[in-house]
Amino acid sequence: MLKHVAIIMDGNGRWAKARHLPRVAGHKKGAESAKAAIESCIKHKIQYLTLYAFSSENWGRPEDEVKDLMNLLRFYLDSELKNLHKNNVRLRFVGDTAKLEKDIQDKITAAEKLTENNTALTACIALSYGSRQEITNAIKAVAKAINDGTLKINELDEDTLSNYLYTKNIPDPDLLIRTGGDQRLSNFLLWQSAYTELYFTECFWPEFTEAEFTKAVEAFHSRERRFGQTSVKEAI
Ligand code: IPE
Ligand code: IPE
Ligand code: MG
Repeated sequence: MLKHVAIIMDGNGRWAKARHLPRVAGHKKGAESAKAAIESCIKHKIQYLTLYAFSSENWGRPEDEVKDLMNLLRFYLDSELKNLHKNNVRLRFVGDTAKLEKDIQDKITAAEKLTENNTALTACIALSYGSRQEITNAIKAVAKAINDGTLKINELDEDTLSNYLYTKNIPDPDLLIRTGGDQRLSNFLLWQSAYTELYFTECFWPEFTEAEFTKAVEAFHSRERRFGQTSVKEAI
């Protein structure tokens, strides 16, 4: 079953460069693709969508580009919130959001609060997100809980550790899409995608339409997920 799709939205800069446009034009067009992906999920009755919007490593980009990305984020948090809420979308943000500017942190908190009871889709936005940092923080929190005596070392299992991650209560992704032609995870959902189906496309993110989304969904349905077991077909 396809319950959760995660997307590494890559290729905005190259899309813009090919058109002799500034990188920010690619990010703007990319934000429209993110809106379309949310709509596609609702259409396909997919319950969870996680969008990789800004990685912990992306802080190292030129100051102007980081500023442009943060301003776009501000703009969309203001302009899209009402519409998302109307469409029954629940918003969640995962990542080291304490690194974001205070006004953005406030917008995020308000958006999560406003939409917390919505049920059509949970749209999870990964912002200032890095998997290694997430796992390191989880381990620190676990160590503290053991130290404080609130957690016993024997009680620590995979589910317990998952509850210390930013993605607490979100099921693991079934399908992970990366646009832009590169085939790597770039520090995204390393723990959570242990058995996720990976789908790579050359298509740049600003060109990722509903038709492209449907292609990825079809590819997912053509795969056999074995989770380390023998094929169901062989067992017959
Ligand atoms: C993805 O597009 C958006 C972010 C990482 C914020 P890029 O900006 O990485 O675009 P390319 O990979 O340089 O084409
Ligand atoms: C991954 O893309 C991060 C996001 C899409 C937000 P990058 O463009 O940062 O990844 P690399 O540098 O090509 O690995
Ligand atoms: Mg990139």
